[in-house]
Amino acid sequence: MQNDIKEVLISEEEIKEMIKELGRKIDKDYKGKNLLLVSVLKGSIVFMADLMRAINLPCQIDFMAVSSYGAGTTSSGAVKILKDLDTDLEGFDVLIIEDILDSGKTLSYILKILKSRKPASLKICTLFDKPKRRKVKLKADYFGCVVPDEFIVGYGLDYAEIYRNLPFVAVLKENIYNENETN
Ligand code: IMP
Ligand code: MG
Repeated sequence: MQNDIKEVLISEEEIKEMIKELGRKIDKDYKGKNLLLVSVLKGSIVFMADLMRAINLPCQIDFMAVSSYGAGTTSSGAVKILKDLDTDLEGFDVLIIEDILDSGKTLSYILKILKSRKPASLKICTLFDKPKRRKVKLKADYFGCVVPDEFIVGYGLDYAEIYRNLPFVAVLKENIYNENETN
């Protein structure tokens, strides 16, 4: 796995700092609220696990899964619910936890569905943001950092379901992406 890496873009230390800062902001904004963290599987699980421990407020967690991408690196545009939430959102201040905001198609779809369930409030927290790639008008309420328009892996992010367990964020060597795309 280490042999496939071209460059480390964001180190473990940098990620840790970003999450600490996000936790501080969320603590301030959600004091006295009924916070529910909704993690969008699978990419956000590593972020979710670290972020929830950086939050010093009582909160609940839930998970949902949608399909957006195939094995490749570009959005298919088709989004489907694979696993729905267990929680009734009414009365909850819902914070959606995402790994990366890219075209925005996935999140705008999720927002539409969750909004219709009448939460007390609904906001987005993404660790990484690629604003240049946006196809729909959407801004994250909280984000860790902007990343360049490159396909990144690690810290939950996959390429063809691999590399999620890298503790940092990296770009893969060109031949890894090319091999799969021509298959
Ligand atoms: P969107 O619908 O285009 O915003 O795509 C969002 C989803 O695509 C994210 O939750 C990721 O699962 C995936 N994604 C987008 N960019 C990357 C990337 O650079 N690396 C890995 N996954 C990505
Ligand atoms: Mg994802």
